[in-house]
Amino acid sequence: MQVSNRPLISRAELDRRIVELGEVISRDYAGRELLVLVVLKGAVFFAADLIKQLKGPVEVDFVRAKSYQGVERQGPATFSLFPEASLFGRNILIVEDILDTGHTTAALFERLRRENPASLALCALLDKPSRRQISVPCAYLGFTVPDVFVIGYGLDYNEQYRHLPDIRILEL
Ligand code: IMP
Ligand code: MG
Repeated sequence: MQVSNRPLISRAELDRRIVELGEVISRDYAGRELLVLVVLKGAVFFAADLIKQLKGPVEVDFVRAKSYQGVERQGPATFSLFPEASLFGRNILIVEDILDTGHTTAALFERLRRENPASLALCALLDKPSRRQISVPCAYLGFTVPDVFVIGYGLDYNEQYRHLPDIRILEL
């Protein structure tokens, strides 16, 4: 197992794209108060940089999906952390690190829709479309990546490598 020498997505590319995403999101939500829901843990690094680009007013909260370590996924994901405040009538933007099979995000969409928010949209840093099993609408996307295992900038392999400043490939 080895970390690629060259980044798949460099620090400069990440910074540039996040500024662009911040501009588009700020324009789309102009005049509306946004509730950014950051999906722990992987999206924390991306969200911290993205949120600083938003023109406000912005509230930040967190959700965490229950992990199924070593166990086959059975049914939709459930959440071990969920906002306590009412989500009714809020404009919610989910911030995710990567869209893979889509199961986690699809379950989150379904759970959040039950709270009757005014709007619900997804911003994902990365998308691995070749792995998708459930279609999930992604309004804001950073980068499309091939079917490789990526680490860094919040993304982990067994909780390691989140601290790397850019996106690298883990060659398994
Ligand atoms: P999904 O439910 O299959 O879409 O899973 C999404 C989650 O799987 C992400 O939030 C990541 O935590 C993890 N994941 C999927 N692909 C990768 C990868 O290439 N590197 C690191 N984590 C990944
Ligand atoms: Mg993970």
